[in-house]
Amino acid sequence: LDNGLALTPPMGWLAWERFRCNVDCKNDPQNCISESLFMEMAERMATQGYKEAGYEYVILDDCWMNKSRDEKGKLTADPERFPSGIKFLAKYVHSLGLKLGIYEDIGTLTCGGYPGIEGHEEEDMKTFAEWDIDYVKLDGCYMDAAEFGTAYPRVGQFMNKTGRSMVYSCSWPAYLIDSNETLPWKDLIQYCNLWRNYDDIQDSYDSFTNIAAWFAKKQDELIPVAGPGHWNDPDMLLVGNFGLSFEQQKAQMAIWAILAAPLIMSNDLRDIGHPYRRILLNREVIAINQDVLGIQGRQTASSRAKGIEIWTRPVTPTTTANGATVYSYAVVIWNKRDDGTPYPYAQPISSYGLTEKKGYFIRNLYTGQDYGLLQPNDVLPLKVVPSGVVMFKATPVVAIKTRSVQEDAQW
Ligand code: GLA
Ligand code: GLA
Repeated sequence: LDNGLALTPPMGWLAWERFRCNVDCKNDPQNCISESLFMEMAERMATQGYKEAGYEYVILDDCWMNKSRDEKGKLTADPERFPSGIKFLAKYVHSLGLKLGIYEDIGTLTCGGYPGIEGHEEEDMKTFAEWDIDYVKLDGCYMDAAEFGTAYPRVGQFMNKTGRSMVYSCSWPAYLIDSNETLPWKDLIQYCNLWRNYDDIQDSYDSFTNIAAWFAKKQDELIPVAGPGHWNDPDMLLVGNFGLSFEQQKAQMAIWAILAAPLIMSNDLRDIGHPYRRILLNREVIAINQDVLGIQGRQTASSRAKGIEIWTRPVTPTTTANGATVYSYAVVIWNKRDDGTPYPYAQPISSYGLTEKKGYFIRNLYTGQDYGLLQPNDVLPLKVVPSGVVMFKATPVVAIKTRSVQEDAQW
C-alpha cells in the first residue's frame, strides 16, 4: 500500500502470542488484556532500548473490546479492563514516542468472538482515526474467503478516507492457505502494508521451523511481492518466551531478518533476560531486516543429508567506479541436525553465491568476529551449533573501495 508507511518492515510488539485472550483481571491482573498491560509494555519499549533499536508499534490484539457495540453501534473497549479508553492509551503511547496499533476482524465476529467490522466498516475506521490509532490488524475470521477480495480493499478505502496515517495489516492470505488459486497479489500490494501468509505462530521450535519451511517452499511466489510498503508476514517473534532455546531464538531472529519479516515481538518485556534482550536489540541483524532495498531473501540450499540450510539476502548495493551494481549479502547457515555437537561447516564462500573476484569482508553478526577479506575460493571455517545459526554479512571489497574514494573526494 502506497501510503508512505512501512517502507521497511514494521517493528513493534503485539499481545497475542504471549498474552492470548486472557481477560481474567481478577485472578491474573499482571497478565490480562488490559490498559495497564499495554502501558507497561510501551514503557519498557521506550526505556529499555527497544525504541532506539527501531521497535515502534505497540499493538492490541483480540479481546480488548466490549462484548457488544454501544447503543449507537460504536465499538468500545471493555470498561473494566480499559477504564481510561483507547484514546487515552494512544495518548500515553504517543507521549513515549511510540505508536498504537489495534485489532479488528473483517467478518461478523473476531476470532475470539468479539464484534467484527462487517456492516460497520466506515464507522469503525472513523472511530480508530478519532482514537488516534496508527496501525490496524484486520483479521479474517467469520467471513467467507470469497468475499475478501472486495471486503479488504473496501475497508482500506474507508481507512484512507479518514485522512489519518494507519498501517494496514491484512490477514487475507492466511485464510486461503489451502486454496489452490493464486492469491491476488496485485491487490494485496495495492491495498495492504503487510499480510499474514500462513499459520499462527506458537511458542515452539516446531512451529517456527514449520513456518520457515513453508516460506522456503513458497519463496518464488512470495519474494517478488515483498517490498517497501508491502510485506509478507510470517508472524510474531518468540524471542524472550519459553518454547525456544537461546540458540533457536537467535535462529528465528536471523531467519526473520532474511525474510524481510515484520519484527513484531510477542513477549513479556517486564521479564526478559539480558541475553535474550540482546538478540532483540542486535543492531546489525536489525539492519539486515530493515535494509532499505526491501528485497526478501531466500533459502538457497537445503541438504537433508547434511541437515544444513543456507539462507541469503542481498542488501545495500554499491555502484562501483565502472558503473556496476554490487550487493552485500546476509547469509545464515542453519544447523537442523540434532547430533549434539557444533557442526564443522567449512566451504568456499563462492558456495554462498559470493563470487565477486576481489572478495568480501566477512563479519559474524552475532559474535562480532571479523573473518577478514576472503576471495571466492577461500574457505570460511564455521561451526554451527545444533538448531542454531551462524549469521554473517559479506561486504564486497569493491563497495568499500568506492566508499573511500567518495570520502577522499569530500576532502
Ligand atoms: C487469529 C490470528 C491471530 C490472533 C487471533 C486472535 O488466530 O491469526 O494472530 O489475532 O486470531 O483471536
Ligand atoms: C491513505 C492515507 C493514509 C492511510 C491509508 C490507508 O493513503 O493517506 O493515511 O490511511 O490511506 O489505506
